[in-house]
Amino acid sequence: MLRGLALVTLSLLAFNAYAQDKRAYNNYMLHCQGCHLPQGKGALGAVPRLQNFVGYFLHSREGREFIAQVPGVTMSSLDNEELSELLNWMVRAYSEEQLPEQFEPYTSAEIAQLRKTPNPDPLGQRNSILDVVAEGLPVLADEIATDGYAY
Ligand code: HEC
Repeated sequence: MLRGLALVTLSLLAFNAYAQDKRAYNNYMLHCQGCHLPQGKGALGAVPRLQNFVGYFLHSREGREFIAQVPGVTMSSLDNEELSELLNWMVRAYSEEQLPEQFEPYTSAEIAQLRKTPNPDPLGQRNSILDVVAEGLPVLADEIATDGYAY
């Protein structure tokens, strides 16, 4: 009986996680994909790729905030709950390998706070944030040395 209940609870949790991921993916398609393209591939020279990259930002507090303060995020018509869900899904789905080991998911309260102060100069601040992260992360330092900061 207890085992049965535990199984039901587990599968409900799994279903809930699945439903959240699906909603996040749909929201990505509707609200971000137009520019960032499927799989977060980005558009060379115009829109940053999220794929195999966006996770690097989560290695610093400034980078964590940066992701939630770019115009595409702060000005989105999604609410804070949907946005935190989307960002948590996006960094794992497109950039799991670049994430720090202890990635703390965004909360909707955090997003509510951050989006009140949009980043006035994302292009300028991006490079200094990445420089600091690269100091402790040779793989990113190599990437910058090879490709520069270009996207
Ligand atoms: C109208 C096009 C457009 C839309 C829609 C858009 N973005 Fe962006 N995004 C950009 C551009 C361009 C940049 C580069 C910084 C800038 O100029 O704002 C950017 C930067 C970013 C960055 C920083 C990445 C980096 O490497 O610097 C993240 C993260 C991001 N966007 C996530 C999102 C998410 C999540 C959504 C959907 C909720 C979204 N964007 C919607 C165009 C867009």
